[in-house]
Amino acid sequence: MKKRLFWKLFALIVLGSISLMMVAHWLIVHTEQKMSFISPLHQQTLRDYAREAEQYYQQGDMATLTQFLARVSDEEQTWVAVVESDLTPIAGTTLLPSYKERFTLGRDVSWKIHLYFKENPVMDVTFEDGNTHFLILLPQHMRPGTYWPATSVLMQIFLPILLMSLISIVIYRHVMQPLRQLQHAAKQVAEGDFSIRLKPRLGNRSDEIATLAETFDSMAEHIGRLIQNQRHLTADLSHEMRTILTRIELALGQTENNKEHIQALDRIRTEVQQMRRMVEDTLTLAWLDGESPQLQTDEMDLTELIDSVVEDARFEFPTREIALTIPDYAPVSHCSDRVLGHAIENVLRNALYHTPEGGTVSVQLRQAETEYLILITDQGPGVAEKHLEDIFKPFFRLKRQNQSTYKGFGIGLSLAKRQVEALGGRIYASNIASQGLQITVTLPLPVVYVKQN
Ligand SMILES: Nc1ncnc2c1ncn2[C@@H]1O[C@H](COP(=O)(O)OP(=O)(O)OP(=O)(O)O)[C@@H](O)[C@H]1O
Ligand SMILES: [Mg+2]
Repeated sequence: MKKRLFWKLFALIVLGSISLMMVAHWLIVHTEQKMSFISPLHQQTLRDYAREAEQYYQQGDMATLTQFLARVSDEEQTWVAVVESDLTPIAGTTLLPSYKERFTLGRDVSWKIHLYFKENPVMDVTFEDGNTHFLILLPQHMRPGTYWPATSVLMQIFLPILLMSLISIVIYRHVMQPLRQLQHAAKQVAEGDFSIRLKPRLGNRSDEIATLAETFDSMAEHIGRLIQNQRHLTADLSHEMRTILTRIELALGQTENNKEHIQALDRIRTEVQQMRRMVEDTLTLAWLDGESPQLQTDEMDLTELIDSVVEDARFEFPTREIALTIPDYAPVSHCSDRVLGHAIENVLRNALYHTPEGGTVSVQLRQAETEYLILITDQGPGVAEKHLEDIFKPFFRLKRQNQSTYKGFGIGLSLAKRQVEALGGRIYASNIASQGLQITVTLPLPVVYVKQN
């Protein structure tokens, strides 16, 4: 099975994790970089201190310079000095002991400050002469990156939560949304709306969920069709029963008012027999439709079966001829004597009924490449081309003149169709050129025969 959904989720999670790592790394590096500089305001303050010191220095006013440096040192709570490039302190300032080992005086105020250094760096603003420097140990309040530890923790916790939530939402929408639609559709089916179709709503998905939707759709269609058929069947059946019961009532009425009791009772008997046949046929039809029973159980000789059905028919319709053309032996496996016999009987009875008295019905059995063909041809009026398929629908009857005596219910052929199909065969009708209708029943040849061919 193609595990499309698995691969989709797999790709989503892998891509999501990789992009999470990349975004987190980029953000951490970028934020750290941004936080590593003294703010422009503080840079300006430091430059202003240097400019003021430089003024006093240029004026040669060392006393004021000393005072100024002391004041800055006091206000900023830090070390401040003015020195020559060769590390000679000026204006009473002293060097920090660590300067003895250093080659540079201090860092430019616009340089990056390393956030992980414990000690604050010394900043250096060089005077215009290029030889004198204003040095200040960066005051604690100007030190950048004060919020860095908190920010980095936040980024390491909240960023993954945010990104993973996004991935979860995408996965949830991808999987849960169609399941919701399925739930909704199932509810609609439960409420009796079988027209609902899920697949078109999922767009052009082709994964496991799409397969589920297709299965659901065919299930809804099948159930819908079954229920529709059942409704028609019940409606038609009750209509037919009411008609027969009315005729029985009428006949009963005649027994009271009329002296010709025998005729009326005959009528009642015929009607009751017909009603029994109709009920039995309809029940068999419903059983075949609803239960899909396993009927392919017998091995038998088709010639024998056709022979006996034709024999019965000759007895029932003595005024018509039946021309029989069958081979000596025609074995079938996986068949049912009773069910196939019933189907052929129904077709043959139609053919005989529609053939005028003195006419001939031909019954042939032929063996084709992969199947048997049973052809039943009559000399009746045939069926209009547009109704050739309709005659296999339950309760379908063609309106014909001079048919007041015909008592068919329109079940025979629909029952024959279900029966033949349940045996693995087909049944169809065609009009023959000369005159009349031809019904063809096909049945699969036994496997041994097909192999030989
Ligand atoms: N051989 C035929 N020639 C002409 N029309 C036919 C023939 N066989 C069937 N039909 C038409 O098809 C309709 C359906 O046939 P079907 O056998 O299903 O029902 P029926 O014969 O009317 O009733 P039932 O068989 O249930 O007693 C018939 O009513 C008839 O109009
Ligand atoms: Mg019939």
